[in-house]
Amino acid sequence: MVDVTITGTGVYVPPARLSNEELVEAFNQYVDDYNATHKADIDAGLLPPKQHSSAEFIEKASGIKARHMIDTSGVVDGNRMMPHFPEGAHGDDTKPSLQADMAMQAAREALDQAGRKADDIDLVICSAALQQRYFPALGIEVQHFLGTRGTAWDMIMGCSSATFALINGYNAIRSGTATRVLMINPEIFSTLVNYRDRDSHFIFGDIATAVVMERSDLAGSGEGWRIDGTKSYTEFSSNIRSHYGPLTRIEDDSWDRDDMFFVQEGRKVFRELLPIVTKFVSEQLEDSGLTVNDISRMWLHQANINMNMYAAKKLLNRAPTPQDAPTVLDEYGNTAGAGSVVAFHEHRADLKSGDRGLICSFGAGYSVGSLLVTKL
Ligand SMILES: CC(C)(COP(=O)(O)OP(=O)(O)OC[C@H]1O[C@@H](n2cnc3c(N)ncnc32)[C@H](O)[C@@H]1OP(=O)(O)O)[C@@H](O)C(=O)NCCC(=O)NCCS
Repeated sequence: MVDVTITGTGVYVPPARLSNEELVEAFNQYVDDYNATHKADIDAGLLPPKQHSSAEFIEKASGIKARHMIDTSGVVDGNRMMPHFPEGAHGDDTKPSLQADMAMQAAREALDQAGRKADDIDLVICSAALQQRYFPALGIEVQHFLGTRGTAWDMIMGCSSATFALINGYNAIRSGTATRVLMINPEIFSTLVNYRDRDSHFIFGDIATAVVMERSDLAGSGEGWRIDGTKSYTEFSSNIRSHYGPLTRIEDDSWDRDDMFFVQEGRKVFRELLPIVTKFVSEQLEDSGLTVNDISRMWLHQANINMNMYAAKKLLNRAPTPQDAPTVLDEYGNTAGAGSVVAFHEHRADLKSGDRGLICSFGAGYSVGSLLVTKL
């Protein structure tokens, strides 16, 4: 079997940024307007009043201070409470669609870092928690506009979208069906957030990541991270769920119903998913003949600072430092499938040859996916 090396990563961050304070100000205005409009029903006990959100709560409960989105103006408009559809977002034969464009911006950085041209790539895997359409595949659109060779396809895997795609790319190279893979992961999760819901309006941001993986004997002499092993696990749960999908069009009254948005039982997710993740990582290390002391860094999924610190502490058996498990939540929020790859992109330059790390996602499904890597 051949070895596989990660030779480049890229991240595209949408310029529109919304701080907790800006988000909460708009939300609280919406709440005041709602309560004033429904005062008679609320006073009569027919409707519960809506409650204010708080920037302090958001930062303490999640570690998030801000998020970037494809559009923020619609989110802070109390009459709309969702992003605006960006001009030209559907694209056409001559212009890429919104997600393809985001993916391409991240891909160009990853290709530059790898010292590769688009036509060196023979497989594109486009993977994201949400995809703006079913066909033609976004991956094929990126293949067309970037000029990669071979094939391209799409996949969806919630918050493990990037890691599961990387595992697929790794397997494609190992089995000989590809030599150089471009994994693209354009996340537009802000489009599924219920900005009228105090429990979840703060969680998500948009971003795109890209990773170039090459057969190790074909990789150049630049920075490289050999993939030493991969592992994935799934277990069904409804605790993170959305009913939005192709049936939405034909379901009466579906359009604005709460279950069409992202809905979660946050506490249950915390309680149920963390033991799965810590057991999963411990077993992966053990199966590889390693202990946690052999790992210099864990680039974990970025859903919640408390969750990450809990997992890292449990695995390390001590209080984690920011270097053990870096977070990028403060500036980007939860970016669905992208979080662990963003952390890997932004927090690896200080590591030296021979250092090992773990890129690990966890989330809806439930799903857990991880790659053990060593810096060459
Ligand atoms: C969502 C999450 C941040 C909420 O944090 P939490 O500490 O569990 O908070 P809770 O939902 O239990 O709420 C605690 C209190 O804060 C209140 N609260 C909730 N949202 C609030 C807001 N925006 N502003 C102010 N207060 C708020 C609640 O009403 C509750 O009040 P109470 O104690 O009087 O009942 C957290 O549960 C989480 O991140 N879980 C994991 C989720 C995850 O990883 N999901 C994967 C997504 S891909």
